[in-house]
Amino acid sequence: MFRVAYVNGRYRPYREAMVHVEDRGYQFSDGVYEVCEVREGHLVDERRHLARLRRSLDALKMAAPMTDAALATVLRETVARNRVRNGIVYLQVSRGVARRDHAFPAAHTAPAIVVTARQLDRSRQEREAAEGVAVVTLPDNRWGRVDIKSISLLPNILAKQAAREQGAREAWFVDRDGFVTEGSSSNAWIVAQDGTLLTRPADQGILRGIARTVVLDVVKGHGLRFQERPFTLEEAYRAREAFMTAASQIVLPVVRIDGRPIGRGMPGPIATALRHDFHQYAEVSRA
Ligand code: PDD
Repeated sequence: MFRVAYVNGRYRPYREAMVHVEDRGYQFSDGVYEVCEVREGHLVDERRHLARLRRSLDALKMAAPMTDAALATVLRETVARNRVRNGIVYLQVSRGVARRDHAFPAAHTAPAIVVTARQLDRSRQEREAAEGVAVVTLPDNRWGRVDIKSISLLPNILAKQAAREQGAREAWFVDRDGFVTEGSSSNAWIVAQDGTLLTRPADQGILRGIARTVVLDVVKGHGLRFQERPFTLEEAYRAREAFMTAASQIVLPVVRIDGRPIGRGMPGPIATALRHDFHQYAEVSRA
C-alpha cells in the first residue's frame, strides 16, 4: 500500500518522510499530539481534537504551526491521499528544530509538524469489542500534567508493554490512594454494583478524552445514572461492567482486570449500548 506522510509543509512518500536529528520532539519529547478517528473517510470530532491540541500547545507555551482551518485541510488531505476509509489520523507538533539545549529555542523557531493516517481493521475491532479485553493494573508513576496530550509517553509505553507481556490489551494506572486514574492510552470506566456508571473527573490526573466527552453525552442521552468520581481498584474488581474509551477504539468492554472476571466475564449491556450509539453523538466532519 502506497502511503504518504505530511512533514513540515510537504506530502512525502513514507520512505522519505523524515524529521531532523535536532527536532525537539526527537531529542526531548518536546511536543504534543492528537489521534482522531476516521470513519467512512470522515474525521470524527475533529473540532474537539483541534481545540484540545490548542490547549496542549498553550499549556507548553508552544506556537501553533498553522491555523485550525489549515490544520483541518492537512488532516483531510492526508486521510484522502492514504485512502483511509476507517482508521486514524495522527498529528504531532514539536517545538521545532534547534541546537540541543533544554531551554526553549529562539522565539522565531518554527514548530515542526507531522501528520500520518492509517487504516484500521474494522472487523477485527468489532470482534475484539464483542469478546471484551483484559486489563492489568500498575501504579501511576506519571508526571503531574497528564492533562496535556504530550508525546512524552515513557510510563505509558512501559505500562502497555507490561500489559502485553501478561496477555492483556491495556494497563490501568492506579494512584497512591488506590483509585484508578486511566489507561495507558484510554480512559477508564466502570458500572458499579449499584448500577451507577463511574469515571474519574477530568480535572484529576487524567487526559480529558474526546471519546470520554462523547460517551458522557450518550450517557445523558440515555438517562443513565452516572457520577464523575474516582473509583477504587476494589470497586473495579467488584463492578458489574468495565470498559475503556479512546478515539481509536471508541468503547471497548473490559472483561478481566488482573485476571479476575468482571461481572459475568463478558461485555455488559451498558458498554455495548454506549459503543453502539457512540457515533450518533460524535461530530462528523462532512467536508
Ligand atoms: N490515546 N488517556 C490517555 C493517556 C490517552 O493516551 C488517550 C488517547 C485517552 C483517550 O483520549 P481520546 O478519547 O481523546 O482518544 C485517554 C490515543 C488514542 C493514543 O495515544 O493513541
